[in-house]
Amino acid sequence: MSARVGAISESATLAVDAKAKALKAAGRPVIGFGAGEPDFPTPDYIVEAAVEACRNPKFHRYTPAGGLPELKSAIAAKTLRDSGYEVEAANILVTNGGKQAIYEAFAAILDPGDEVIVPAPYWTTYPESIQLAGGVPVPVVADETTGYRVSVEQLEAARTENTKVVLFVSPSNPTGAVYSREQVEAIGRWAAEHGLWVMTDEIYEHLVYGDAAARASADGSSSSLPVVVPELREKCIVVNGVAKTYAMTGWRVGWVIGPKDVIKAATNLQSHATSNVSNVAQAAAIAAVSGDLKAVDEMKVAFDRRRKKIVQMLNEIDGIVCPEPEGAFYAYPSVKGLLGKEIRGKRPQTSVELAEVILEEAEVAVVPGEAFGTPGYLRLSYALGDEDLVEGVSRIQKLLAEAK
Ligand SMILES: Cc1ncc(COP(=O)(O)O)c(C=O)c1O
Repeated sequence: MSARVGAISESATLAVDAKAKALKAAGRPVIGFGAGEPDFPTPDYIVEAAVEACRNPKFHRYTPAGGLPELKSAIAAKTLRDSGYEVEAANILVTNGGKQAIYEAFAAILDPGDEVIVPAPYWTTYPESIQLAGGVPVPVVADETTGYRVSVEQLEAARTENTKVVLFVSPSNPTGAVYSREQVEAIGRWAAEHGLWVMTDEIYEHLVYGDAAARASADGSSSSLPVVVPELREKCIVVNGVAKTYAMTGWRVGWVIGPKDVIKAATNLQSHATSNVSNVAQAAAIAAVSGDLKAVDEMKVAFDRRRKKIVQMLNEIDGIVCPEPEGAFYAYPSVKGLLGKEIRGKRPQTSVELAEVILEEAEVAVVPGEAFGTPGYLRLSYALGDEDLVEGVSRIQKLLAEAK
C-alpha cells in the first residue's frame, strides 16, 4: 500500500451508516442518525428530465470532461440568482458531487507542505482530501460556547508562512453553524489581506433557519464570500452541488467555481481520472438548477420542525448540551458530561465508545465527534422522518437516564 493512500481513513459517517444498514438488514430495528442525506425523493420534474434524457441517444455519449455547456450556463445563471456572483462557463467544472469538487480543487492548488486552515469541528472529508493532495490540514477548533464559529483572531493565530488556503463552510456540517454577513466579511478581508486562497463550501446554502437567515443576509443581499469580499475573486474557490438542495445525493453532481487557470487544471485532472459526470445525471441537474426553489423550501419546513424537536429532546438529557443549529440538517451536542459514567455495565470514556453503547443498547446510530476532529461530541442528522426521530431520541433518552 502506498503511504499516501494507506494513510486515508474510512469515512466515519459512511461507516456508521453502513453498520446501521447491516444491523437493519439482520432484522434489528436500528434507527440511523448517521447519513447526511434528505429523506425526501428527488422532485418529479427533475426525475422526468432524467427519464427523457435516458430515452435520447444524445445523452448516451460522453460529454466534455468538464461538463455539458448547457449545465455550465445553468449553473452560472443559478449562481447569479442565488449569490449575486457573476461567473462564466470557463470558471466552472462539473464534478461527481461536492466531494470530487473539493478533492480536485485542492489537488489543483496545493503543493507538498502547503497548509490549509480548517475550522473544526470539520466535515470528515476535508482533511483527507487536503492530505491526498499533499497539503497539511491545520485544524482551528471552535466549541459550543461560540456556536462552533471560529474568529479571525483564532485563524490569525494558526497562520504561518506555509499557510496557503483557508477553508470556510457556512452552514456547516457537522455543527449547523451559520456565520453572519459581518463575520463572513471579516474572515474574507483577513484572507485577502494575507494573500490567502479561500475555499468556500456552499452546499447547504439554502438550508438556513429562523433568525440566522436574517443575520446571514439582513437585507437579502448575498453572504457568499467572493461577493462580500470581491478582492478575493482571483483566489476564491466555491464548492456547491445539487445533493442537499434537491435531495439528489445519489445522482452525484457537484461543481467548482474558480479562476479559469485553476478550473482548466482541475478539468485536466478530471479528464484522466473520471472524465465527465454521468450525462443523464447532468441532464437532471440542468432541470434542478434551472427550476425554482419550491422543493427545498418545503423540505426546509420539515427540517426546521425536526431541528427544534431534536434540540429540545437532546437538551432534556442530563450530561448533554446541544446548541441550536442554524443551518444544514445536523445537531452536534456535547456529551462530555456523560463520559466516564456507567451505562448498563459499560463505562464509555470517549464519544466513540458512547456511540457504540448507544448503537448496541438503544439500536440508534450516531456519529462520534472524533470523526470531525473534536472528541466529546456526537453528530445526529435530523434529515430522517419525524416519527423515527422522536423514537430514536426517546430511546437515547431512556438509555442515558440510566447513566450513573
Ligand atoms: C459540507 C459538505 N460539503 C460537501 C458535501 C458533498 O456532497 P456530495 O459529494 O454528495 O455532493 C457534503 C456531503 O455530505 C457536505 O456535508
